[in-house]
Amino acid sequence: MHVILIAGGWSDEREVSLSGAKKIRTALEELGHRVTFFDPAQDFRHLVRTAREADFAFINLHGTPGEDGLIQAMLDKAGCPYQGAGAAASYLALDKGASKEVFETLGIDTPPWQFITPTQGADTPLALPLPVFVKPNKGGSSLGMSLVRTAGEFPSALSKVFAMCQSALVEIFIPGVELTCAVLGDRPLPLIMITPKAGAPFFDYENKYAADGAEEVCPAPVSDAVTRLVQERMLAAHNALGLTGYSRGDFILAADGTPYLLEINTLPGMTPTSLLPRAAGQVGLSFAALISELIRLGLE
Ligand code: DAL
Ligand code: MG
Repeated sequence: MHVILIAGGWSDEREVSLSGAKKIRTALEELGHRVTFFDPAQDFRHLVRTAREADFAFINLHGTPGEDGLIQAMLDKAGCPYQGAGAAASYLALDKGASKEVFETLGIDTPPWQFITPTQGADTPLALPLPVFVKPNKGGSSLGMSLVRTAGEFPSALSKVFAMCQSALVEIFIPGVELTCAVLGDRPLPLIMITPKAGAPFFDYENKYAADGAEEVCPAPVSDAVTRLVQERMLAAHNALGLTGYSRGDFILAADGTPYLLEINTLPGMTPTSLLPRAAGQVGLSFAALISELIRLGLE
């Protein structure tokens, strides 16, 4: 097949996207596909035209545009199939606050939160008990995110988010261990437990992508009951957001055994240190086999 590999883009996660795209390109070529690389940051005007000439688009963009459904909507116009969620579901899932409303409606625990618009501004009073995380509502890879321990730190954490032209999501810090669970097709994959390096306050950008970053154990050393509970919640949330093909959800497992769903990523990272390829490997799928499966699901 002729596959366009769409990666790069202009979000803060551009480097993460390009790093994953290198691996994806090698895998696509190993699978016998002809690959055309397309970076929306270089050539945005020609996407629909290029996609019309391709048999499939593999999207490896993170953040906006790409994870927000815009590229998916353009590919729909071009009649070009692609892997993962469609336009509307991508738009909903990238919005952390809107997704959390859906999770709550389903009875899926998510940390209590406060949503602050740029109009409300950096002097909006905090309505939650400390400590809290302050993050861009539509960001990724922990960029722009702060752990706020004292009231005095709150305005500067908000200003950091608003400098990125975003609404802010403020979330109660729930102490616990971080677990991630991916869905592939209609089945959840084994959980991964993430332990940031000593001294790191959370699973930040450095811990996510440095080769010697956080320790990641798969399958996660938790009980079968916890594994099942997280997998059930992940699948329910994936379906409720209308996602298809695959996705990866990030959870905090609190000391009382409650898993809190933080967010779902519709185009999970594919870098050498990323989590979805790791979980797929655990069920016997090589990186190339994972790419092949995502294409098969995208063509269904
Ligand atoms: N946003 C990054 C790429 C991830 O979820 O893996
Ligand atoms: Mg994310």
